Amino acid sequence: MDLFTLVLPFSKCAAGLVVSLRIGERTPGEDKPMSDRPSYEQLNTNFNWVIAERELGYRPGDVINIGWMCSDRLCQLGLAEKLALLWEDYQGNQKRFTYNDLRVYSNTIAHFLARLGILPGERVCLFLDRVPELYIGFLGILKMGAVAQPLFSAFGDESLCVRLKDAGTSAIVTQKKHLHKVRKIREQLPNLRHCIVVDVPQASLQERETAFAMEQVPPVEHFPIYPTKAESPSVLHYTSGTTGQPKGAQHVHYSIVAQYLTAKWVLDFRPDDIYWCNADPGWVTGTSYGIIGPWANGITQAVLDSGFNAGKWYEFIEKYRVTVWYSAPTAIRLLMKEGAEIIRKHDLSSLRHLASVGEPLNPEAVIWSKEVFGKPFHDTFWQTETGCIVITNFPGMEIKPGSMGKPFPGITATVLDPRTYEPAKAGLIALRPGWPSQIRGYWNNPAGYQAKFRNGWYLCGDRASIDADGYFWFMGRDDDVINTGGHLVGPFEVESALLGCPAVAESAAVAKPDPVNMEVVKAYVTVKQGYQPSDDLELEIMNHIRKRLSPLAMPQEIEFVESLPKTRSGKIVRRILRCKEFNEPVGDLSTIMDD
Ligand code: WT7
Repeated sequence: MDLFTLVLPFSKCAAGLVVSLRIGERTPGEDKPMSDRPSYEQLNTNFNWVIAERELGYRPGDVINIGWMCSDRLCQLGLAEKLALLWEDYQGNQKRFTYNDLRVYSNTIAHFLARLGILPGERVCLFLDRVPELYIGFLGILKMGAVAQPLFSAFGDESLCVRLKDAGTSAIVTQKKHLHKVRKIREQLPNLRHCIVVDVPQASLQERETAFAMEQVPPVEHFPIYPTKAESPSVLHYTSGTTGQPKGAQHVHYSIVAQYLTAKWVLDFRPDDIYWCNADPGWVTGTSYGIIGPWANGITQAVLDSGFNAGKWYEFIEKYRVTVWYSAPTAIRLLMKEGAEIIRKHDLSSLRHLASVGEPLNPEAVIWSKEVFGKPFHDTFWQTETGCIVITNFPGMEIKPGSMGKPFPGITATVLDPRTYEPAKAGLIALRPGWPSQIRGYWNNPAGYQAKFRNGWYLCGDRASIDADGYFWFMGRDDDVINTGGHLVGPFEVESALLGCPAVAESAAVAKPDPVNMEVVKAYVTVKQGYQPSDDLELEIMNHIRKRLSPLAMPQEIEFVESLPKTRSGKIVRRILRCKEFNEPVGDLSTIMDD
């Protein structure tokens, strides 16, 4: 049996989607008061992920394919003409795609990749700005059974190379403006058979480079979807840890069950919503809640392919009548800095629900948003590894500003004493394994994944406390990873790249507090003989990292030192430097120093 006969009869009665909105049509009265929604307590009682399986029309053992579920399925439920994507870029170019467009264009991409000889299970990297090909290409890759590997297009050649090499990536989809980075590293990547460029004619390309214009090639009406199952690999997201290079977090198609329901309940989706997620799909928020969550729910989403600009953002909300907005604390702090005056110039009355992720959401930001937008931002906590929101301020639940809220129904979360790994009032955030979107491992690194578990708990690598009402309060990370503007930067990656500078002898990359980005990267550096620390050298080193890694991994400050603190066995102790930056006591170092 193929995917259609397996999935369709059941999905026709999908309880979650009861709408058939046409372009431009609004459903008055749909915006029910919050009290009409089941409460957090009600949803928690007898919770079972089967609720989401049923709404998605999935039964254990069925074929399940995210690409199909986010496009064809919606068309079959009567939403073919509903708008799925409202796209605009920094120059004001605009495009609109219906669910039927998603279906046909993702078929076209899937067909093209299959014709190139890409096989199911192979990794296909999306190295694109936030252009429609990124969102639709993601579905296309999944439809033909390959694994989507989205990478942030601001990455420099070294960041890109490390991740493509580790994943053994077979093909990369990119734009003309990023092609030079791919060309620079191509020789180091024997597995990379194809480089697909979406915005140039074939004549301007070199060997093993193929032009593909999604909207110009003949559209493919019917594509035989690859029959992926629950445990088939879907997405590979690279995430940074304390040690070693970034790790490939391996997601599976079954993750949609959790992404669908968390998006629906936490982002409080209603059929006529216009949803805006600020995150780039190079990071997990941009795929779980920038592609899969909204489209599995048949929601219209708006995408702005442009950097931060308060005026432009408010204009965007006003123009598209955005109702649900998923943002991040750094962006909110930047908006706060711009003040309330600019907000009064715009009609932002469409906004109904606001949420935030990526870093601690400071209480001032919650209070400010309530004042200026009339709605608080709802903090949500999760990670690349969890694949979905796990701790959250649930819609309708009392918000305690500064708290991350409570576990999503079906998620067992606690905090553990770091010595005994027994539940405590404050300690390490831990989750009971087994929710649908938990990653199934790190690519090529089973030991790294195993190390995340203790006493039957998955450890997030963060610290928190739980209050008497069961609310979680974030305290900090439990490792040396730097969280800058919601993006994790691994110190090892920065230190490795620093060693690529001729002047650098040794280095340590640590977090430094920052009023807007929460943390920024700071590097302590010793120079080789024959080099003198200077302002010019500092700039040269910063530029080197910005180009090779990315603007966010670039140290905002470089401190030249005579020597770095080390253990007896010679390992650099970043913690001492980090504590210095944060003015915190270093504490007991005896065990570390004996390392
Ligand atoms: C790390 C995960 C999950 C999407 C974006 C980041 C930090 C995430 C919060 C929050 C405090 C948070 C944690 C976490 N983080 N959300 N609401 N409050 N910290 O995904 O790149 O895997 O980063 O971001 O440290 O472990 P990621």
